[in-house]
Amino acid sequence: MVTLADQRARFPALQTKHYFNYGGQGPLPQPALEAITNAFAWSQVLGPFSGQALEWIAKQEASNRRALAAELGVAPQTLTLTESTTTGCNIVLWGLPWQPGDHILIGDGEHPGVVAAVQQTAGRLGLQVNICPLTLAPDPLAVIDAHLTPQTRLLVISHVLWHTGQVLPLADILRLCHGRPQPVWVLVDAAQSVGVLPLDLTALGVDFYALTGHKWWCGPDGLGALYTRPDLMDVLEPTYVGWRGVEAGNPRRDGRRYEVATSAFALSQGLRVALEVHTQWGTPTERYQRQIQMSTLLWEKLSALPDVTCLLPGRPAAGLVAFRKRGVTPGQLVQTLEDQGFCLRTIPQSDCVRASVHYLTSELEVESLTSAIQAT
Ligand SMILES: Cc1ncc(COP(=O)(O)O)c(C=O)c1O
Repeated sequence: MVTLADQRARFPALQTKHYFNYGGQGPLPQPALEAITNAFAWSQVLGPFSGQALEWIAKQEASNRRALAAELGVAPQTLTLTESTTTGCNIVLWGLPWQPGDHILIGDGEHPGVVAAVQQTAGRLGLQVNICPLTLAPDPLAVIDAHLTPQTRLLVISHVLWHTGQVLPLADILRLCHGRPQPVWVLVDAAQSVGVLPLDLTALGVDFYALTGHKWWCGPDGLGALYTRPDLMDVLEPTYVGWRGVEAGNPRRDGRRYEVATSAFALSQGLRVALEVHTQWGTPTERYQRQIQMSTLLWEKLSALPDVTCLLPGRPAAGLVAFRKRGVTPGQLVQTLEDQGFCLRTIPQSDCVRASVHYLTSELEVESLTSAIQAT
């Protein structure tokens, strides 16, 4: 196992910035950057679209899919390669066998892109939508239970809420939804949980898990995936259809059935190598433990400042620390910090600043950030 200092040294952005924006976009490790450029270059050497290049791409793609599957605890056939979390959510929203009057329940802390996709689907197909108040709810399970109706077919929630950093009790939520007289499918937005929580999606029994590689996994932007529980592949129809999703004119029997056509293959080399880089520092559980140790440190330090309020009432169980400082707007605070080399972001939905803390984050960075916030 490499030291944390050596691991950090592989990320060019960590050499120039105090980086707290993993939940927006993770920095690429140098080996991933090289894998992407090498893949583009090698395809030119082989001759793009030559038999040799296509064979090489097919082999690499199978191995990339295996690498993603291993991270998630699923079979490679359950995965659809997408370009983003939101694309995965759209595949599910448009592909389910809806009846007019069916009901979708969605949390109040969902990302605007996913909310828009739900509204567009519901408006076009005559579905009802309700929003339930999960933001900082002490008992999110009870809130969801109270908002499910006999017509509810789908619950749309994030595993980790992007605007507060709450981790929802997904196993309990799945038990609740699947135990209803008319079982409710659960579509999980995993943008803020993948690369953070140790995951075994097969054991969890989740229906749909839509993710991206460009945040906590530190892969390139433009590459994500959708997990579909195998028995739901017959239920979920492909909406966009193309040569990658069909075999002999029929939809494939695995996750590739929702893939469409040409995409930037070289990016998946970058994601696979980014995943390999992470495995060189600890297990997923060790990385998670270090991460929440660091996010807890930041949460404790900020909570101790008289003018700062953290949104989470207790220690974080993931990497996001959302907070406000009295007397300064979130926008002013982020700008002032950025001028000093700290990368954070505002979250308009919860009128706060959000710091993303990774296992790569150092104690020194947490201390410097706290001092900079104190001084602003
Ligand atoms: C919870 C959540 N969902 C979805 C998204 C959008 O991600 P993508 O661009 O991968 O669709 C984000 C990005 O910030 C997010 O935080």
